[in-house]
Amino acid sequence: MNNVTEQVYYVGVNDKTLDLFEGQYILPNGVSYNSYVIMDEKIAIMDMVDRRAAKEWFENLSEVLGDKQPDYLIISHLEPDHSANLSEVIELYPDIRIVSNEKLFGMLPQFFNVDIADRKVVVKEGDSLSLGKHELHFVMAPMVHWPEVMVTYESTDKILFSADGFGKFGALDVEEDWACEARRYYFNIVGKYGMPVQTLLKKAAALDIQIICPLHGPILSENLDYYIGLYQTWSSYEPENKGVFIAYSSMHGNTKQAAEELAKLLEAKGVEKVAIADLAREDMAECIEDAFRYDRLVVACPTYDGAIMPVMQDFIYHLKVKMYQKRTVGIIENGSWAPMAGKIMREQFEAMKEVTVLDEKVTIRSSLKKNNYEELEILANKLSQ
Ligand code: FEO
Repeated sequence: MNNVTEQVYYVGVNDKTLDLFEGQYILPNGVSYNSYVIMDEKIAIMDMVDRRAAKEWFENLSEVLGDKQPDYLIISHLEPDHSANLSEVIELYPDIRIVSNEKLFGMLPQFFNVDIADRKVVVKEGDSLSLGKHELHFVMAPMVHWPEVMVTYESTDKILFSADGFGKFGALDVEEDWACEARRYYFNIVGKYGMPVQTLLKKAAALDIQIICPLHGPILSENLDYYIGLYQTWSSYEPENKGVFIAYSSMHGNTKQAAEELAKLLEAKGVEKVAIADLAREDMAECIEDAFRYDRLVVACPTYDGAIMPVMQDFIYHLKVKMYQKRTVGIIENGSWAPMAGKIMREQFEAMKEVTVLDEKVTIRSSLKKNNYEELEILANKLSQ
């Protein structure tokens, strides 16, 4: 059995067979659906798992419960990767009471055809539930992914059950850097909701938290200031690192050549970090992550059908909906007969909050010429100031 503390158990499941999380994000190392059980005078199950992981979850659960019956099921988030087993839980544990907030109970019939009227316990901000030695305190966290989300603070062991917050891609038996896959998870899944995350961080700052138990990824019990600090940076849309991310799309290699030439110039000029990606070949979610990670971005794209390459349009669309802001953007365009890409990309970035689009644009007419090398040098100088 997997203890978090003396009476708190991990009963979650690793999933290494899912191809795309939320139907869109690649999972090179799988994902974990985390769930916990508090074995006190009263027994509480903290969230469930995806239906794909049901069998293993029920096995984990019954190993911890033994012949005991759970008293409460706390649901902090209704998204199906955490709630899929509700009907079976009710069937298996007929006396269990379901604890959550009004908003979640309002949405619940959209997902489940179960009557829980006589077993629901509605909690709101500041409410508590005693399990005996352990005391659960409920903190509403609307839009820390979905509108019904709440987190739960257990004040005896000082655990924050943080829902999707502090979550990460990757199964728990995989050794990998936390920040890399937590950042990709954050910006692509929660990134739009920086303000609600900030609100939750303010509430969390008032709590003495020793352990964070998220719904995905590892339990965090050391160096919590590091993780909370990253969430502070990410949710306030501040760059995490100084550096330039060059995102390019190229039809015949000429725009790619310009992007790589710029990368070389920036490195030679001592820019702290230069990252470069071919948008058509790299994981889009990783590209979104890098755009948010660094303080400067360069987009390089040919004109295509009188507009821009679809993959670049997709990239900029993602940035827009994830509230990309507070950054400097440089532009490289290519066009053989009527270059439009620069204008189109500029308009879209200028519509974003506190984004400065540099005037030092590079315009390639099909392939790089002497004047383009000069323009690249000027752009590199501006970006490395
Ligand atoms: Fe992991 Fe928003 O669900």
